[in-house]
Amino acid sequence: MLRTPVIAANWKMHLGPQRARTFAAELAAALPPQGNRTVLLFPSAVSLAAVGGVLYDRPDLMLGAQNIHFEDEGAYTGELSAPMAKEAGARAVLVGHSERRHVFGETDGAQAKKVAAAFRHGLKPVLCVGETIAEREAGRADDVVLRQLTTVTEGLDDAQLHELTIAYEPVWAIGTGRTATPRDASAMHAVIREAIHRRLGDAAVQVPILYGGSVKPDNAADLLRAENVDGLLVGGASLDVTNWVRIATA
Ligand code: 13P
Repeated sequence: MLRTPVIAANWKMHLGPQRARTFAAELAAALPPQGNRTVLLFPSAVSLAAVGGVLYDRPDLMLGAQNIHFEDEGAYTGELSAPMAKEAGARAVLVGHSERRHVFGETDGAQAKKVAAAFRHGLKPVLCVGETIAEREAGRADDVVLRQLTTVTEGLDDAQLHELTIAYEPVWAIGTGRTATPRDASAMHAVIREAIHRRLGDAAVQVPILYGGSVKPDNAADLLRAENVDGLLVGGASLDVTNWVRIATA
């Protein structure tokens, strides 16, 4: 692997400020600074500041928001803007998570605008892509992922594309206990890498491509060893300190 592995925890709609603060403190105590890893935590928006408060002396643990709106401010009840996320302590943001796409009906076009908003405000975007089981069984997985990727990347200049992190999360693997095999993950990551290579040439090797979907302590190391897999995005297993530390150090 040529890149520093990126290990990210998506807490989804779990852990309000009090529990998130306690959890983050336990995590910081259990996980020594990882010189050779980038570790990201994506708490709920309402818990960002609380987690940031206990991690002020751990700049190695990077905080991110799970979602942003693409406008900076306005009459968007219930939404969080990039400048607000930043003010609350976020340095990164997940964009296009499958739950945003499939539960909340967000389009590829919206993801492109969110990535642009993230770059405008100095948040590192982690763009999530992935196909459903129906799309995979119909032989359309590559096309779907490339469409999701291209809709976002066509609006970026090369310097921005270079700063993008991509997370391949097959929808059928999220929260199902059905992990993609290292070989399947590797195959899709190669498709993504090739698309980036067409834009950036050899610099494409520096764009991290993470795998997500039922990552557990027992499969993390095998997935990380797979070619073109540069890191992991973890949901359920990141909500347990022991499991998370095992994955973050796998
Ligand atoms: P699980 O690890 O719970 O399958 O969730 C994956 C995910 O959606 C991370 O963003």
